[in-house]
Amino acid sequence: MTKRVAILISGGGSNMVALAQSMVGDHPARPVLVLSNDPDAGGLAKAADLGITTAVVDHRSFHNDRSAFEAELNASLEVSQPDIICLAGFMRILTADFTARWDGRMLNIHPSLLPKYKGLHTHARALDAGDSEHGCTVHQVTAALDGGPILGQARIAVHADDTADTLAARLLPMEHALYPAVLRRFARGDMTPVMLP
Ligand code: GAR
Repeated sequence: MTKRVAILISGGGSNMVALAQSMVGDHPARPVLVLSNDPDAGGLAKAADLGITTAVVDHRSFHNDRSAFEAELNASLEVSQPDIICLAGFMRILTADFTARWDGRMLNIHPSLLPKYKGLHTHARALDAGDSEHGCTVHQVTAALDGGPILGQARIAVHADDTADTLAARLLPMEHALYPAVLRRFARGDMTPVMLP
């Protein structure tokens, strides 16, 4: 049976586009919803252009009441009945109740070689540490922030003249290769990690 995928975004949605464009032909999944916590997220128009249903649950309306925000998020997700949820640049921290609700069905992409650099400013932190390589990780989402089982990683070399911006720009195409590769496997029930290149 074709798996139904909801993609959660907060920004430009380039990973969402890579995921959506990969779900064609014999792919075992199809996108059914793109949901943003920010009505101004650039990815919403891109999703609509791709013919995907979009929704917004604006976290600011809930004034720091995380459980009320997540109840609305769940209500919106349940309309689309997703089998898999992909967090793709979704910049809200989720509670243990929410992650438990979707346990085993939710993936995230994070711009570091986890377990290094959970949280924010990953590119700057890799540079500050003098790392010779950097990368991105797709993992299952659990209650532990950026801490669930790793399903894939892609690596790039750090150059002597790199800045956080150049590193981020060089990593993004690797994210776009890694996330669809992991999703394709995951949708078939295959948890073998994808290692790129
Ligand atoms: C991506 O680099 C993604 O790895 C990162 O946000 C960017 C979203 O870009 N995610 C995180 O930092 C999550 N903690 P996009 O909106 O163009 O996909």
